[in-house]
Amino acid sequence: MKIFFRNARVVDPAGKYDGLFDLMIVDGAIQELGSSLGGNPVNYEINLRGKFVVPGLFDMHTHLREPGQEYKEDIASGTAAAANGGFTAIAAMPNTDPVVDSADVVKYVLDRAKQSPNAEQAGLVNVYQIAAITEGRKGERLSEMKDLSEAGAIAFSDDGSAITDSHVMRLALEYSSMLGKPIIQHCEDHALTKSGSVNESPKTIEYGLKTQHRLAEELVLSRDIRMLEAFGGKYHATHLSTSESVELIAAAKKRGLPITCDVTPHHLFLDDSLLSTYDSDYKVNPPLRTRADNEALIEALKSGVIDAIASDHAPHALHEKEVEFDSAPFGMVGLETTVGAVMTNLFHTGVVDIQAIVRLLSVNPRKIMGIPVPQFNLGARADLTIIDPDCEWIVEPDKFKSRSRNTGFKGQKFKGSAVGIVNGERFFFSDRLR
Ligand code: DOR
Ligand code: ZN
Repeated sequence: MKIFFRNARVVDPAGKYDGLFDLMIVDGAIQELGSSLGGNPVNYEINLRGKFVVPGLFDMHTHLREPGQEYKEDIASGTAAAANGGFTAIAAMPNTDPVVDSADVVKYVLDRAKQSPNAEQAGLVNVYQIAAITEGRKGERLSEMKDLSEAGAIAFSDDGSAITDSHVMRLALEYSSMLGKPIIQHCEDHALTKSGSVNESPKTIEYGLKTQHRLAEELVLSRDIRMLEAFGGKYHATHLSTSESVELIAAAKKRGLPITCDVTPHHLFLDDSLLSTYDSDYKVNPPLRTRADNEALIEALKSGVIDAIASDHAPHALHEKEVEFDSAPFGMVGLETTVGAVMTNLFHTGVVDIQAIVRLLSVNPRKIMGIPVPQFNLGARADLTIIDPDCEWIVEPDKFKSRSRNTGFKGQKFKGSAVGIVNGERFFFSDRLR
C-alpha cells in the first residue's frame, strides 16, 4: 500500500523535517520525505497544499464506556470518533462497569481494542488503558497497582472521583515512583461539592441550580502539591478549571516540582453563563467556570504552565441527559470537536502557533504517559494527523461517529479541522479532506 502526500506543511517536533515536503508512505512506514517526489504508481495521491501534517494526536483522557455501558459508547464507536477527530491514540479512563481495577479487565480492554468488533478498524487508533488507583474507585484500598501495570496499564486514576484520603494518596504516589507511571488526579473535595451540579456564582445561584464551590478543586490540588513535595511521585492533575489552580501549578513548577496538568476545550472556551439555558449538555465535572477562568487558563496555556489539552470525552445517552438538570450525569463528548475548538479559538486568534498545538495535543501528553512520540524519520512507522486550518464547519452532533451527542459546542461554527490520520498500515481520510 502506497500513500503519497504532496506539498504538506510538516510540523516535526524534532525539527528535522519542518517545512513543505512530499511524503511517501509505503506499507505503513515513511519511505521518502523530500521535494518533488513521485513518478511511481501509488494507491492514494493527495495534494496537501495549505494543510499541516503533524505527529499523530493523542487524547490522554477519554471515556470509552466499555465494558458495561456500551449504549453510551464502545471501543469501536469511540475509536471511530477518535479517528474522525484526528487522534491516532487515546487513553481510556477506568470508570467502567466493572471498574478497571484488576489485571483481567485491563487485558480484556486491550485485547478488544486490538481485535476490535469492526475488523476494518482494528489498529486504526491505539487504545491505552488507565487503571483505577483504588479498588472499585472507592478511594479506600489501593488497587494492585503493580499487577495492573504489568497487565499494560500506562497510568492510574480514579477519575470521576478524587483521592481525598491522604494516606491512600501517599501510597499511590510511592507506587507511582516505583512503577514510573503517573497518578492522574481529578481534583475535587467531595465533602465540599456535595451534590452540586454547577459552579457556584451569583449567576448560577440566581438560576436556582445546585452549586459547588470552586475551592473544592484548589483544596485537593494544594494538598497534593505538598504531598508530592514530601513523598515524591509522578503526579498529573487533569481537567483543571480555575484561575487559582493554574496559579498553584505555576508556583509548584517554579519550585521545581515535577508536576504536570491538562485542561479541556470546554473549560477553555465555555463558561457558566451558558447554564441560563438549563441545557444539561453544559453539565460537566468540574463545572464550567467563569469567563475570567477561561482567560486565566488560556494565559496559562500561552506561558507553558499547562502541559496538555485533553478532551475528557464523556459520552452519555440522550435519555440520561434529558432529565431534570440536577439529576443528569456530568460530561460532554469531545473527541470530534477538540481540534476544531482549538484551531478556532487558539490558532486563528494568534494565542498559540501550530508548534504549540503539536506540543499540547501530541508530544506532551505522550511524554506524561511514557509513550514514544511519533517521528518523521525515514523508515519510521507513519503515525500522523492531517489538519486543515481553513476548513470551515458547523458542529452537528448527528454527524458524530461517537454513539453519543452530548456536546456544549453544538451549533458552533469552527475554522480548522482534522481531516485524516495515518497510523501504520491503517488510515482514515475524512469527507472534509479536499
Ligand atoms: O464530566 C465528567 N464526566 N467528569 C468526570 O470527571 C467524569 C466524566 C464521566 O465519566 O462521565
Ligand atoms: Zn474527571
